[in-house]
Amino acid sequence: MERNRNTGWANYSKHFSSDDAAAAYNDLYTAETADSRVWTRQQRALADVLVRIPRGDNSALDYACGTGRISNLLTEVDWSVIGVDSSQAMLRLAQERVPDARFVDGNMLEPSAIDDEWLGPHMLTTAIRLFLNVDEIHRAKLLEGLRLRTNAVGTVIVNNHGSSPSLRALSLRMRGDQDSNVLASRQFERMLELSGLEVGRVLSSGLWTRQVYRMSRVGRFAIWIEDQLDSNSFGKWVLRRFGSDQLYVCTIRQPHA
Ligand SMILES: C[S@@+](CC[C@H](N)C(=O)[O-])C[C@H]1O[C@@H](n2cnc3c(N)ncnc32)[C@H](O)[C@@H]1O
Repeated sequence: MERNRNTGWANYSKHFSSDDAAAAYNDLYTAETADSRVWTRQQRALADVLVRIPRGDNSALDYACGTGRISNLLTEVDWSVIGVDSSQAMLRLAQERVPDARFVDGNMLEPSAIDDEWLGPHMLTTAIRLFLNVDEIHRAKLLEGLRLRTNAVGTVIVNNHGSSPSLRALSLRMRGDQDSNVLASRQFERMLELSGLEVGRVLSSGLWTRQVYRMSRVGRFAIWIEDQLDSNSFGKWVLRRFGSDQLYVCTIRQPHA
């Protein structure tokens, strides 16, 4: 699904345009896959975050919403969600999965005046499973867009699903197909700060490679170990330092008075 990095961001955006690509993306999150195991852990962590953040008008924007995985989680806890994506095939599956959310066909890099409700500002904005696949210039543009579309007292949740150093980043490097986009956790945090975001909680997982998670018993054991690590401060440090999947809960940096 995501092995076309070296063909550039423009092709990545097009990659999800077909029904087959959309269905294949959905299949990543079926019961026994590596991605679904990591996602199960992340959902628990996200649920805990979502009950603590300021609600205000309840409006959430799910950037690059894909087939609605995050939009679904948000509507389940009563956020009023607008999902934006440039792939109609992905949006069709999203609308089927989350009838209560509104999905808009849009290019996040070139917002149009035709349907500008998604421009916000929203109390919550999310961009998950996106930045690993985006080149440096567009990453900064996307983050700037996210910040502008977030209420000054709102929350931004983004992730880096190829964080380095991690076993996954090492395996991506060895395969040689995503090298240029793998970002060290420190670089990623710096990039968030430069975009005017203040990093709060970091929810970490992905200590193992996809191959490990994919194995039936071993994969379950690997997740169990992550759960144990997540229950104490040293283990949290290990996950934050060496996990490949880092979720950042950010606020908007306030200008100094
Ligand atoms: C890997 S999927 C992530 C989907 C979802 N956020 C999730 O976590 O399951 C990346 C999505 O980014 C969308 N995308 C890529 N470039 C885009 C652009 N310029 N504007 C809007 N969506 C874009 C793709 O169509 C695809 O659905």
